Amino acid sequence: MSEGAVSADPGAESLSRAAIARVDSSDQLSDVLTLPEHLRDALWRVESAIMQHWDTTAGLVVAGMGGSAIAGALARAALGDHATRPIFVTRAYGLPTWTTPDTTVLCASYSGNTEETLACYESAGALGARRTVVTTGGRLAEMARADGIPVIPLPGGFQPRAAVAYMIVAALEVAALSGAGPRLTSEIDVAASHTEQLVAEWGPDAAEDSLAKQLARSLHGTTPVIAGAGLTTPIAYRWKTQINENAKQPAFFNELPELDHNELAGWEGAQDVGRFAAVFLDDSDAHPRVKARMALTERAIAGSAASSFRLETRGQTSIERVISLVLLGDLVSIYLAALRGVDPGPVNAIDELKEQLAKR
Ligand code: PA5
Repeated sequence: MSEGAVSADPGAESLSRAAIARVDSSDQLSDVLTLPEHLRDALWRVESAIMQHWDTTAGLVVAGMGGSAIAGALARAALGDHATRPIFVTRAYGLPTWTTPDTTVLCASYSGNTEETLACYESAGALGARRTVVTTGGRLAEMARADGIPVIPLPGGFQPRAAVAYMIVAALEVAALSGAGPRLTSEIDVAASHTEQLVAEWGPDAAEDSLAKQLARSLHGTTPVIAGAGLTTPIAYRWKTQINENAKQPAFFNELPELDHNELAGWEGAQDVGRFAAVFLDDSDAHPRVKARMALTERAIAGSAASSFRLETRGQTSIERVISLVLLGDLVSIYLAALRGVDPGPVNAIDELKEQLAKR
């Protein structure tokens, strides 16, 4: 089903602010709805933390995990063809072997205590790379301050994944400051206003048959499989991880054109093993062959999927387009949490694993 074909169900459960508040103990909804303000505040924070430009010809590595790492991938997607140096995201205990003193390493950790990111910070120092940090504090801020490394300070009190707009802006600005891409400051500011319109269109005060609410209802009771291509590939991953962490349920992601060479065959047996829903994230500026593939792939799996959707980015600039579908996915994941009756905030499974590891 394409975006315009989502239909209303008059008997559907309300996804009003009050209905969401019943499960959302830490008000994750408000953190999503204030994404435009996060974009603007982040610009100011980067500007006050880093004044000078530098040029590292080997490019930029963004080191982080989970909700902090995704921002690097989204920033790289937003830069697209305008990147002037390699931009690489590492989600691991180490840096790529080609990291040199001519590489900028942005260590991104909301808490400042993620062990993989701390290890990358130390490796970057040992390799003599140019380091920058974005965090709320923790061990990462302590080490950076002791080493005289610039720290972009983030506001506390969010779940790491809810600070995504802050992290995207930090990655984009560090890319520009280090010579890896153009400065997108004014585009980010314009994107904030564009996003405000989408908040009104898809937020909890919108009609019950708004796109975001109808999508959540259609995905409820299914295992969502999200597909992106090019600019939307990291957004598809963001949808998957937001559904995992906010709605506390399995979700998977893949990318085109690759999935047409394997996953497509797997859909044939989908109904034998579960209820899977497919969401294809298209971009208004995608390669025409990719667009054709998305339409054909959606058609090919329609009979096997519990439901299927093809959604398109909204906006003119690449940053507007990236943020548009990040916002939609974040809202859908919160609505799904409400439909499932689960609190979107706490991620006890992740916290417990971190605690167990810390004891080893
Ligand atoms: O969303 C989350 O809570 C996680 O994915 C975290 O972002 C991840 O565990 C890394 O933590 P941090 O962002 O504090 O470095």
